[in-house]
Amino acid sequence: MTAFLDVRGLAKRFPQRAGRPPSPWILKDLSFQVADGEFLTIVGPSGSGKTTLLNIIAQTDTATEGEIAFDGKVSALGDARKLSPGLNRRIGYVTQEDNLLPWRTAIDNVLFPFEIIGGISEKVREHARALMAAVGLTGFETHFPHELSGGMRKRCSLIRTLVYDPPVILMDEPFGAVDAQTRMQLQEDLLTLWNMGRKTIVFVTHDIGEAIALGDRTLVLTKAPTRVAGEHRIDIPRPRDVKDVYALPGFPALYEAIRAQVQ
Ligand SMILES: Nc1ncnc2c1ncn2[C@@H]1O[C@H](COP(=O)(O)OP(=O)(O)OP(=O)(O)O)[C@@H](O)[C@H]1O
Ligand SMILES: [Mg+2]
Repeated sequence: MTAFLDVRGLAKRFPQRAGRPPSPWILKDLSFQVADGEFLTIVGPSGSGKTTLLNIIAQTDTATEGEIAFDGKVSALGDARKLSPGLNRRIGYVTQEDNLLPWRTAIDNVLFPFEIIGGISEKVREHARALMAAVGLTGFETHFPHELSGGMRKRCSLIRTLVYDPPVILMDEPFGAVDAQTRMQLQEDLLTLWNMGRKTIVFVTHDIGEAIALGDRTLVLTKAPTRVAGEHRIDIPRPRDVKDVYALPGFPALYEAIRAQVQ
């Protein structure tokens, strides 16, 4: 495997605060690789540093030790002043909250990154419309966020990240806080969008079923100080129908193997 994203010996502890004991190591000796176009899912116990890890990859936070190579180019991560958040728009980040701007319509939220970069061409508009159409948002372009369902808002925030075409997308439990039915539909939609332009995805989730349904490979993290507890290749052919994945004969054994590793 040629690594597109190469995480090497990452360690993290937060600075000590006055009057508190020294902060513990959150990440320690954490190394893994992600291939170009791979869909990697990550599961791990709460508090194991998954969000911290994504923040370091996105360069919105520093690492205490270690480095990350992106497409062969190494970034030093120790000094906050030398970080490059989002790596020049090459890394997109979808967080748990949808973060839509309430005073902008759905389409204007989706096109927001382009406004910042300075230029919404007709081609970009067309791409945005195509992505919205692919997940059933046609007709809702001019709705405001409060006029959309929770699932629709999540689709919008997903598309807002996809539309500016970053080669890598980080997702931090993007489908939390929705009901099981909507969640499965969002998983379907994500795979549909991913098939339209295969990105490298690092997807963090609490949901082992989701990790299996979406991923090419699932990484299991230990509790803090966090390292890799195990790795599972998900050999389910694509395109996948998420609903079918749960009914596959191999699914229970894989689920159990991962569950046993998540402490
Ligand atoms: N800015 C910070 N300062 C100090 N400690 C922090 C900071 N951010 C996170 N932590 C600590 O780092 C640890 C890991 O937090 P993190 O949010 O990365 O976990 P997580 O795996 O994403 O958890 P969850 O699954 O609940 O989202 C926690 O113990 C948390 O208290
Ligand atoms: Mg988290």
